[in-house]
Amino acid sequence: MLANEALRSGVYQRLAAWHGELTAFRRDLHAHPELGFEEKRTAERVTEALRVCGVDEVHSGIGKTGVVAVIRGAKAKSGRAIGLRADMDALPMREENDFSWRSSKPGLMHGCGHDGHTAMLVGAARYLAQTRDFDGTAVLIFQPGEEGYAGAKAMIDDGLFERFPIDAVYAMHNWPSLAPGMIGVNPGAMMASADRFEITIQGRGGHAAHPYLTIDPVLVAGHIITAAQSLVSRNVNPLDSAVVSLCAMQAGDLGAFSVIPRQAQLIGTARTFKREVQDMIEERLGRLVESVALGLGATARLDYRRMYPATINTPREAQFAGDVAASLVGEDKVIRDLIPSMGAEDFSFMLQSKPGAYLRIGQGGEGGCFLHSSRYDFNDDILPLGAALMSSLVERAMPAAPRR
Ligand code: NI
Repeated sequence: MLANEALRSGVYQRLAAWHGELTAFRRDLHAHPELGFEEKRTAERVTEALRVCGVDEVHSGIGKTGVVAVIRGAKAKSGRAIGLRADMDALPMREENDFSWRSSKPGLMHGCGHDGHTAMLVGAARYLAQTRDFDGTAVLIFQPGEEGYAGAKAMIDDGLFERFPIDAVYAMHNWPSLAPGMIGVNPGAMMASADRFEITIQGRGGHAAHPYLTIDPVLVAGHIITAAQSLVSRNVNPLDSAVVSLCAMQAGDLGAFSVIPRQAQLIGTARTFKREVQDMIEERLGRLVESVALGLGATARLDYRRMYPATINTPREAQFAGDVAASLVGEDKVIRDLIPSMGAEDFSFMLQSKPGAYLRIGQGGEGGCFLHSSRYDFNDDILPLGAALMSSLVERAMPAAPRR
């Protein structure tokens, strides 16, 4: 249990009474991880749990494996609706934990805590369906494929917001470097955009003893790698943020020490918060790749793909979510100016369509390992708090009775 005196609210107490069941549910998901758009069992378990909770409607197969639950409040005068989102997918990595609920599938692991996010939203479904102490509609969105599959976009493209119109949408992610009981948010950029780029360099292969007869793509790659470092240091305004990382290179054959290959390939990622910085990096990188190659007698091509946009909270909803968090854990446990992360998140697609906020819920503390570590596990201690936070967002955004 969390050692936090502020957790006296009715909503928290009620959810804490279900802590054991939520933990069992979470650990079952953990033991059965599924990749993006393959969350069949997970979606079935969620659907089953939602029906037991007594929600009004359950819709499955939205954005392939996504599930949506609708819960109507005791009143429906406001005409308002609030969306809450959890992600369900796991990662293609090997788990190195040895507790009894470790992954039962080799090479698959809930290494990012989406099992916990799903369990917390199921907890909120149970609470909201039992109490219905709000005036409007709660739309609970269980999303597939957050880890690189843009499952949020798949649900939106499948008519999510037309079928379930909402006024605002909220999501949260566990955060190992924040202590349990802490909640972080900010009124703007929470996470960066994630772009993937591939550079293909064409030279002319030949005998390494006679390089003058070749055009060496490995040398060209070396110059491109070095020159790409100038984008962030010389082109991006120092008051803006950006990352350009070259993460893989392939050329030649390690067994062929005397052969200059014909082609070299580089793969990397760019991370930014602002559209204009993103545009500039794409444009500059393209020109740099072509001209460096040209200067060395080769040709090179940039294939630049924008994967996830930046996750930008809307100020009003971020302020509101911070207030709701403070009502549960106390103002001193809420960080309202959380420093953004250069990581990315596909909840960004939902925030491009709707006002809303993305929060971080503390789960770690000293010695805990970070997300995507092979020894990571979601901290079950925070299940009731996360569920209470989701529930309270609905209750306070659409109060059944005017609040004092
Ligand atoms: Ni994640």
